[in-house]
Amino acid sequence: MTEPTDRELRQRAARVIPGGMYGHQSVVSLPDGYPQFFARAEGPWLWDTEGNLLLDLMCAYGPQLFGYGNAVIDRAYIEQLHVGDAMTGPSPIMIDLAETLVGMIGHAEWAMFCKNGSDATTMALMAARAHTGRNSIVRARGAYHGSQPWSNPRPAGVAPSDQSNQHLCIYNDIASLEAAVKSAGSDLAAIFAAPYRHDVFTDQSLPSAAYARRARELADQTGALLIVDEVRAGFRLARDCSWSLVGVAPDLSCWGKAIANGHPISALVGSEKVRVAASRIYATGSYWFAAAAMAASLATLRQIRDTDYLERTIALGERLREGLDAAAKAHGYTLRQTGPVQMPQILFDSDPDMRHGYFWCSRMIKHGVYMHPWHNMFLSAAMNEANIDFVIDAARESFRELVVAAPTLGANDRYPGPRS
Ligand SMILES: Cc1ncc(COP(=O)(O)O)c(C=O)c1O
Repeated sequence: MTEPTDRELRQRAARVIPGGMYGHQSVVSLPDGYPQFFARAEGPWLWDTEGNLLLDLMCAYGPQLFGYGNAVIDRAYIEQLHVGDAMTGPSPIMIDLAETLVGMIGHAEWAMFCKNGSDATTMALMAARAHTGRNSIVRARGAYHGSQPWSNPRPAGVAPSDQSNQHLCIYNDIASLEAAVKSAGSDLAAIFAAPYRHDVFTDQSLPSAAYARRARELADQTGALLIVDEVRAGFRLARDCSWSLVGVAPDLSCWGKAIANGHPISALVGSEKVRVAASRIYATGSYWFAAAAMAASLATLRQIRDTDYLERTIALGERLREGLDAAAKAHGYTLRQTGPVQMPQILFDSDPDMRHGYFWCSRMIKHGVYMHPWHNMFLSAAMNEANIDFVIDAARESFRELVVAAPTLGANDRYPGPRS
């Protein structure tokens, strides 16, 4: 019997899964040729259900820091699964994990665990409200903090009151931050910040030290808390909180994705001053205390602490950025490559509906590379220089094909984002 094609799987899914797929894993707004389903993954590679092998520059949207199926991390998970996972109470491993995070993250004196990044950001919001007795937050327009109603980026199913008490600023714009804090007035509970600006559809920017420092000052002056949402970038920029790189310590930080290399766990960590408030909020979930993901996280954190994964992913990112830049220029294109090199955002210049970017990405996938046309990507420590050179070779070929196709490309009706 032959395996079903991706198209056949989508037809089956459309009958039993709303919209055929939902959330960020729906490929409905991605270019032609993107598979919806995958059969297997190993190291830096993905196999779609039709047997095509793809070098994966998305790393499962962030969790894969040491590659799919990392033997040490998965062994820790499986061993703990056999010993005891979701039990009537937590395993002592939970304390080991909290101690490890507290030892690694400069501002952290305690840790609480949950499952998704959205759980951690919501817990941060609740802890800030419990600590201050206030309701309002300041956050940057366009920044993603999870899919719960208070931060959901789409209107469907969200009541306006779910997103009331929010004052928006522009990332890295001190005047707008000050204005948002002023507008929150005496009700300000927290200033949320991404480690760097990693909004979809747009060029990324690192935080200016002045912006981070001003956020800290404003939080201190108003009695609000400063929260850094590390869910996407945590441990990809530093072995500590990302804002340690600009010398600013938040009161709370939210972690997920890479902290267990794909196993389901997230965390909220905080400073001494928020300990009491954190102990007062009602925060729990059926699977939040399960021990296997905690064991996987401990094994991941050990590799973060003890290996040169960070330096290696940065070196690979630099190689990729230079190679893609040269390949683009050689074919008359300019790429806007922004963000940290190990979390690259790659957009085409002068491409308002992304028709060039979409065509190029759809050729990349044909040449065996899974890229994203408008979301930042991720490099993993499972990649090597040969993998990066494979991407650059595929890029050259895809640019060559783009040059031929460009004059006849029609409007891109799949692109869902803002036109730059
Ligand atoms: C910065 C940031 N915060 C929060 C979240 C929500 O995490 P999760 O999807 O695990 O709920 C994400 C997910 O992409 C994220 O990138």
